[in-house]
Amino acid sequence: MAHPRILVFSGSARTGSHNARLASLVGQRLGENGAEVSSISLRDFPMPLYDGDLENSEGVPENAVALKRLIQQHHGVFIASPEYNAGVTPLLKNVIDWISRVSEPSEPRMAAYKGRVFALGSASTSPFGGIRGLANLRLVLETGVGALVIPEMIAVPNAADAFDPSGGLANERAAASLSAMIRALIAEASLRMSKAA
Ligand SMILES: Cc1cc2nc3c(=O)[nH]c(=O)nc-3n(C[C@H](O)[C@H](O)[C@H](O)COP(=O)(O)O)c2cc1C
Repeated sequence: MAHPRILVFSGSARTGSHNARLASLVGQRLGENGAEVSSISLRDFPMPLYDGDLENSEGVPENAVALKRLIQQHHGVFIASPEYNAGVTPLLKNVIDWISRVSEPSEPRMAAYKGRVFALGSASTSPFGGIRGLANLRLVLETGVGALVIPEMIAVPNAADAFDPSGGLANERAAASLSAMIRALIAEASLRMSKAA
């Protein structure tokens, strides 16, 4: 049986990142539920801050092209990202912006964001779980670059105490949201896989 391929990463590359932990938990759960999971760190795809003059003189960074092509090898993408001042982390926004500038012959604009499904999560040390950052990230992906983002999301509040010793979520409500998001992402990614076949 074929398995939908899902790429998982965190919008924070910080050592000890709660969002990297959430991404890892989601990756594990996706794998247990039949997906073929690739987990990456944005630390391994360094890019300069977007600068139109730099783009004109040197083009799009190689890592933006590499990450764009990697995304295209997947039917689904899960991003766990912190909320920074109610918005998206500069690291993640910069990556989204650079990838939106990659244009390859015979491909529509924003090709990396089409033909696959995105799901979002956030872990925050605050009691609100980064929900405003999630809304902002959804706006960027849906309205900015035309991606399909499933409604199911996972917000993990009080992240420093949210993970139990086995790596799962101690909070029952967050654990239920996680299961619902995993089911929906696998179902939608499987649909994209059958369409591509
Ligand atoms: C610049 C900055 C802005 C932040 N703004 C928010 C915020 O608006 N809402 C929130 O819940 N947490 C905010 N935080 C706290 C982060 O959610 C917290 O540091 C979180 O652990 C970062 O994610 P990470 O552990 O994956 O690196 C902010 C942190 C930083 C560094």
